[in-house]
Amino acid sequence: MYEKIYASVVDAVVDCGYIVIENALDLHLLNALCKICKDESGFVQAGISDGDATIQKDIRSNAIRWIDRDANGPQTEFLDFMQGLQEYCNRHLFLGLSYYESHYALYKKGDFYERHLDAFKNYKNRVLSTVLYLNEDWQSEDGGELLIYDESNTIIKRVVPKMGTLVIFLSEKFPHEVVVAKKRRCAIAGWFRVDKI
Ligand code: OGA
Ligand code: MN
Repeated sequence: MYEKIYASVVDAVVDCGYIVIENALDLHLLNALCKICKDESGFVQAGISDGDATIQKDIRSNAIRWIDRDANGPQTEFLDFMQGLQEYCNRHLFLGLSYYESHYALYKKGDFYERHLDAFKNYKNRVLSTVLYLNEDWQSEDGGELLIYDESNTIIKRVVPKMGTLVIFLSEKFPHEVVVAKKRRCAIAGWFRVDKI
């Protein structure tokens, strides 16, 4: 069902290492995920290292809630989409992706995340990063764009966090940042990893 999207991700990973896909998932699924994210219980302050131990609000001020399967619910549908992508990437690119982890990321007005790389230093772990946006009616003046940099720190892409836009990029290759959101901003950030859980 999502073969076309999977194929375009694989092509992009080979060509340039990142892709921005608008309206990537069905609207009913996006709406259901959006609704779940509106319940703000269980969110915790995000950290800046693996295991989320170090909280530094001057670098990253948003909150997160990790995602699990929810029987036949929307999170399972989302994770199935990502599992399909994992298998497709492994089949076509031999990436050896072993699992996918993801969380809701909630930015309140004024929140941001400074420029960073998603892969943790010194060992191979996060290989492919994904971000799916869940914001209805996002305007460019609402801020909160994702800026993607190249390896010489030039901005190569600005992504408006509109409902249904999915960004995928090589975790070790692209520094990126979230500029200050001027209103509530919700996304699902996730990573395909090659290490073991
Ligand atoms: C992250 C991240 C980008 C975004 O959670 O690591 O960079 O646009 N998110 O939300
Ligand atoms: Mn990131």
